[in-house]
Amino acid sequence: MGAMLKMKASVFSLLTFLVLAPALTRSLNPSLNDDVLGLIVFKADIQDPNGKLSSWSEDDDTPCNWFGVKCSPRSNRVIELTLNGLSLTGRIGRGLLQLQFLRKLSLSSNNLTGSISPNLAKLQNLRVIDLSGNSLSGSIPDEFFKQCGSLRVISLAKNRFSGKIPSSLSLCSTLATINLSSNRFSSPLPLGIWGLSALRTLDLSDNLLEGEIPKGVESLKNLRVINLSKNMFSGSIPDGIGSCSLLRTIDFSENSFSGNLPETMQKLSLCNFMNLRKNLFSGEVPKWIGELESLETLDLSGNKFSGAVPISIGNLQRLKVLNFSANRLTGSLPDSMANCMNLVALDFSQNSMNGDLPQWIFSSGLNKVSFAENKIREGMNGPFASSGSSFESLQFLDLSHNEFSGETPATIGALSGLQLLNLSRNSLVGPIPVAIGDLKALNVLDLSENWLNGSIPPEIGGAYSLKELRLERNFLAGKIPTSIENCSSLVSLILSKNNLTGPIPIAIAKLTNLQNVDLSFNSLTGGLPKQLVNLVHLSSFNISHNHLQGELPAGGFFNTISPSSVLGNPSLCGSAVNKSCPAVLPKPIVLNPNSSSDSTTSSVAPNPRHKRIILSISAIIAIGAAAVIVIGVIAITVLNLRVRSSTSRSAAALTLSAGDDFSRSPTTDANSGKLVMFSGDPDFSTGTHALLNKDCELGRGGFGAVYRTVLRDGRPVAIKKLTVSSLVKSQEDFEREVKKLGKVRHPNLVTLEGYYWTQSLQLLIYEFVSGGSLHKHLHEGSGGNFLSWNERFNVIQGTAKSLAHLHQSNIIHYNIKSSNVLIDGSGEPKVGDYGLARLLPMLDRYVLSSKIQSALGYMAPEFACRTVKITDKCDVYGFGVLVLEVVTGKRPLSTWKMMWWFSVTWLEEHWKKAEWRNVSMRSCKGSSRQRRRFQL
Ligand SMILES: *[C@@H]1O[C@H](CO)[C@@H](O)[C@H](O)[C@H]1NC(C)=O
Ligand SMILES: *[C@@H]1O[C@H](CO)[C@@H](O)[C@H](O)[C@H]1NC(C)=O
Ligand SMILES: *[C@@H]1O[C@H](CO)[C@@H](O)[C@H](O)[C@H]1NC(C)=O
Ligand SMILES: *[C@@H]1O[C@H](CO)[C@@H](O)[C@H](O)[C@H]1NC(C)=O
Ligand SMILES: *[C@@H]1O[C@H](CO)[C@@H](O)[C@H](O)[C@H]1NC(C)=O
Ligand SMILES: *[C@@H]1O[C@H](CO)[C@@H](O)[C@H](O)[C@H]1NC(C)=O
Repeated sequence: MGAMLKMKASVFSLLTFLVLAPALTRSLNPSLNDDVLGLIVFKADIQDPNGKLSSWSEDDDTPCNWFGVKCSPRSNRVIELTLNGLSLTGRIGRGLLQLQFLRKLSLSSNNLTGSISPNLAKLQNLRVIDLSGNSLSGSIPDEFFKQCGSLRVISLAKNRFSGKIPSSLSLCSTLATINLSSNRFSSPLPLGIWGLSALRTLDLSDNLLEGEIPKGVESLKNLRVINLSKNMFSGSIPDGIGSCSLLRTIDFSENSFSGNLPETMQKLSLCNFMNLRKNLFSGEVPKWIGELESLETLDLSGNKFSGAVPISIGNLQRLKVLNFSANRLTGSLPDSMANCMNLVALDFSQNSMNGDLPQWIFSSGLNKVSFAENKIREGMNGPFASSGSSFESLQFLDLSHNEFSGETPATIGALSGLQLLNLSRNSLVGPIPVAIGDLKALNVLDLSENWLNGSIPPEIGGAYSLKELRLERNFLAGKIPTSIENCSSLVSLILSKNNLTGPIPIAIAKLTNLQNVDLSFNSLTGGLPKQLVNLVHLSSFNISHNHLQGELPAGGFFNTISPSSVLGNPSLCGSAVNKSCPAVLPKPIVLNPNSSSDSTTSSVAPNPRHKRIILSISAIIAIGAAAVIVIGVIAITVLNLRVRSSTSRSAAALTLSAGDDFSRSPTTDANSGKLVMFSGDPDFSTGTHALLNKDCELGRGGFGAVYRTVLRDGRPVAIKKLTVSSLVKSQEDFEREVKKLGKVRHPNLVTLEGYYWTQSLQLLIYEFVSGGSLHKHLHEGSGGNFLSWNERFNVIQGTAKSLAHLHQSNIIHYNIKSSNVLIDGSGEPKVGDYGLARLLPMLDRYVLSSKIQSALGYMAPEFACRTVKITDKCDVYGFGVLVLEVVTGKRPLSTWKMMWWFSVTWLEEHWKKAEWRNVSMRSCKGSSRQRRRFQL
């Protein structure tokens, strides 16, 4: 009982020490400890799979040389922490709050999770916070921006934040950059955000925000970039926007803005990027658009603009990309646009433009032109029709779904840079020009749904870059040219609904990239080449409604071809068309030697003498094969039996040698060991194999793995196999220590029942405790803390009793931690793993290497000091931490410094709670002086 009291007192002084420590830390060596500690604690909260933070060592005096850390040369304090793209995971813990001088925090492009601490922005010196590209979540606490001192840049882009954007944001009057893009922020914006007059960049894109832009937007005199893309903003753009005269980038795309564009926008003469795509804007494209002389990109696509394109658009000399697609524009394109010499892409698709195709598009250096889905009739021949020069800049020409008629220009080959040519859905007549073969860069050719006739020119093989060839719904006749085999990149070949004849060329089987083939509704004849099974990437192959015949290829894609892809070919056979094929080959004669010679196979049937010879040869082959198989089976069986008997023999040997040792006679034979059961009942032989069996493994600890096995009388025991055997003392020392441990008996101690010794293998045999470890009860399992307060008290009391008993027997546990406290079936704690450290002669040295240290239990700071003698105080400290762990349910950290700091900060946080204050108000004075020695 006296021991118990002594221990309680020690625990209290430990708590006291933990609570007082931070103050001491600061007074002793303020700068050093805060930065090193802060970063080490930050590191303890995250996982670093690529080991980028391995240079961060708690033993360093300064973090200034650590990876990603930058210090001020004057103060030597950490001012920048930059850890971008390191695949870090885990949470941003409290450690960073120690870095009082931090100006820039950049943790972008990692995999950090959890929420953001409301205190982060309270770091007075912080100017830049970049947490973009992580998986942070939750909403941003309103306090976050309440004290944002000198914050200039905040980027939380590409995370999973949600909820409202806090209204306190408007208090950060120094903010120049706000980037909250690609999150799940919702609701209207706080109005104050439009009053942040220092703001230069505002990116709120890709969220769920709604509401209107208020008039007050005119206060944002410094705004250069605004991106509200991909939200649910609505209303019209206020006149005030014209006052943001420094605006360079406006991206309002993919919202529900409506109305006309305000005339004040013409003042935005510095604006070079304007994207209003996919809104509900209406009215004419304003004439003043020509005033925006800096414009390089103008995207008004997907709105309801109507009327003609204003001539003034020709003033936009710097324009590179003009996208008016999907509006209601009419009329023809103004010739003035020929002045836009820098145009690269022009998209007027899905409007109602009529008139002629402007000729300058072919020669102006444009590389992308689309007029798809309009009503244009003339002008496809282009200026290249006669000139013979080449116009290689144009790569993408989509004139589909218009009203072009006449023939495809024969000089189309002059557009030698073309990669895509879509003339589908027009009224083109005549043949496909042979010049198609000159388009060496062509990837996509779509001439479908026209009135083309003639045959597919063999020159098509010259367009060897083709990936997609669509000629369906024309009047093409003749054969599919075999030159198609030159288009080896072909993925899609769609020729359906023409009048093609002749066979499917074997050449097609060489186009191994083919995925989609549609030859349906033609007049193809002949059989299907067997080689088609080589097309391993096929996902569709439609040959329905032709005149094909014979057998479908067997294998590959054709085993699963859908019946609809082959129907309408009356002479095709095979399982897909549900029609068996007539036998083409003679029946195997061997099966019916007596068949009469008047059968239909008579032409190939040999005379009976030959039949018999064939019979006997095949019989010999069959018998031979059977014999080989039988011999093989026998051989394999015999081999199997041998292997099995040899393994069982070795298992028997193992049991035998363990059995021999039951004599308890110490033996000098190096190969066999010595088994001692303290109870005098060494009935152990049944369980030896358990050590070879992973399934019986209960767990692993610092000293070795533990297995469960059963004695012959049915009693389960736990066997610990010491892995540190190379460190173990001599046999005599080992036996002396173990016997000492074996004598200790206490209801709260796991009983050591015996041991087994060989030079290379040492086993300790313990009583088996069924309920699992305290660690498991506290930290694992779905519900978390299963233990009631009563049970917790019981555990603490039982553990204290057991330690007191050990100390009375002069044994130091030395390895106190929650995973070494087991709970038995009735909820009683049983402390295990005691005294093992004594088995290691080199302990003093090894204990200090962090490897063993983390395997050992909770260690008091002073014991890391090499000169300090190990005493029972060591257990007192460990017990104190165990108490903390049981009471708080928190996991201690792995090394003592961090564990200590963690406990301290945790306690600090909970200091206000009465139960702690009562406990720790008592004897603070005595301990403080003597603890100074152990500062970091
Ligand atoms: C982040 O985590 C996700 C899933 O947890 C994983 O797919 C991804 O590769 C990780 N990214 C990085 C940069 O580690
Ligand atoms: C906002 O952050 C994202 C992700 O880091 C970045 O791609 C984007 O360019 C930023 N926006 C602005 C306007 O700089
Ligand atoms: C605006 O944001 C969207 C979505 O985040 C992005 O795709 C787009 O490129 C941004 N616009 C500009 C001009 O950066
Ligand atoms: C024009 O905008 C539409 C959608 O609004 C888009 O699909 C198309 O690719 C754009 N055209 C060009 C040339 O960028
Ligand atoms: C060609 O244009 C038509 C109509 O605009 C479209 O349906 C088709 O997908 C386009 N072809 C290719 C290959 O893109
Ligand atoms: C298809 O070609 C055949 C013979 O070449 C001809 O008799 C038939 O009328 C053509 N069918 C069509 C729809 O052009």
